[in-house]
Amino acid sequence: MRIVSVVGTRPQLIKAAALGPALRDRHAEVFVDTGQHWDEQMAGAFFAELGLPRPDHSLGVGGGGHADQTGRMLEALEPILVAERPDAVLVYGDTNSTLAGALVAAKLGIPVAHVEAGLRSFDRRMPEEINRVVADHLATWCFAPTPTAVANLAAEGITSGVVEVGDLMQDLASRAVAEVRDPHALAAVGSRLGVPLAPGGYVFATIHRAENRTPGALATWPGILANAARPDRPVILALHPGTRAALDDAGVVLPPGIHVVEPLGYRTTLTLQLHAAAILTDSGGVQREAAWLGTPCLVLRSTTEWSEAVGGSGGRMVLVGLDGDRARDALDRLAPPNRSAADARARAASLDLAPSGAAEAIVAALAAAEVAR
Ligand code: UD1
Ligand code: UDP
Repeated sequence: MRIVSVVGTRPQLIKAAALGPALRDRHAEVFVDTGQHWDEQMAGAFFAELGLPRPDHSLGVGGGGHADQTGRMLEALEPILVAERPDAVLVYGDTNSTLAGALVAAKLGIPVAHVEAGLRSFDRRMPEEINRVVADHLATWCFAPTPTAVANLAAEGITSGVVEVGDLMQDLASRAVAEVRDPHALAAVGSRLGVPLAPGGYVFATIHRAENRTPGALATWPGILANAARPDRPVILALHPGTRAALDDAGVVLPPGIHVVEPLGYRTTLTLQLHAAAILTDSGGVQREAAWLGTPCLVLRSTTEWSEAVGGSGGRMVLVGLDGDRARDALDRLAPPNRSAADARARAASLDLAPSGAAEAIVAALAAAEVAR
């Protein structure tokens, strides 16, 4: 099949790195980057680190509000799809790039393959929920990562073209485990970041959801992060540029104890997650990675579309929203300072993460559809 893949954001570059090699072994891929993320640390660096191909088309349409950004993507994508005449357009996840790719393709009558289909937070205030619902309803193939995702699709009447394939990001993480579990990898990250890092001796954090960039949220979560810090246990916050801009606009200065670093590379982030005392995050990807690595995780949201990660964590992952008391209780229970170093060492030593086979399953489903045509 001739497939146009549309990416644009950091997590989509990571997912494309997991699927791309298998996809290109069997199908012809035209790789399109909308440029929704454009900073070197949010996008460019992942091409080199993860061996992504140079995009065949770079749209350069990042920034702006939802309508403006999505509108520019629609305009830029249409002539490309008309000229490339693909058999299918493949989109990942739930960003504005996902929505634009699915919408342009569907309007041109080109079948859409949606990777990470069927996820639902059941909160339509999230821009991602709107994007994923629309993409699922436009898609010919819904590649679902979990049984719950398949059930969510069925509840909305989507049963045809649904395949439960597993999670691409698990496959990529499983390939990186051997490298990141080595305590020397953590020490090397620490010296690059200029903070001495020992197993269990820090908390790792990321935060970027739109709901956590509102004035009320910006007045709350910095305190939750600061409370997680101790004199001998800094919080390492890998700060998304959109969150940094929101903090600056609101005039919020982060309290002491929070060590802010620029967005990090993929393996660096996995290394920091594995050896941390705990993770505080609102990221979908980081939630799943925390679950696979077994690191205690506080989710700074009140809902999740990754219910399996939370449900299957044996209580190690907790939705705390922006409730400071819940966060403190969960952290005291999951990462007591006297146990954190031993827990982190034991976790790294026993880690055994198998791939889910998602890439192969997606490639095979598309190949079967090609044969059936
Ligand atoms: C987007 C996705 C979100 C995903 C996240 C991954 C949507 C609606 N949201 O959110 O689902 O979880 O990516 O990280 O698609 N910025 C820069 N440089 C960059 C990228 C962003 O400075 O390279 C700043 C800009 O101020 C920009 C803001 O971040 O306006 C928001 O970026 P945008 O891509 O619109 O949304 P994200 O918050 O990154
Ligand atoms: N990630 C990264 N550098 C960072 C923060 C996150 O490489 O500084 C990785 C993280 O390990 C995961 C992915 O980015 O693989 C998650 O993307 P993000 O949190 O931006 O978006 P979401 O998953 O919430 O859509």
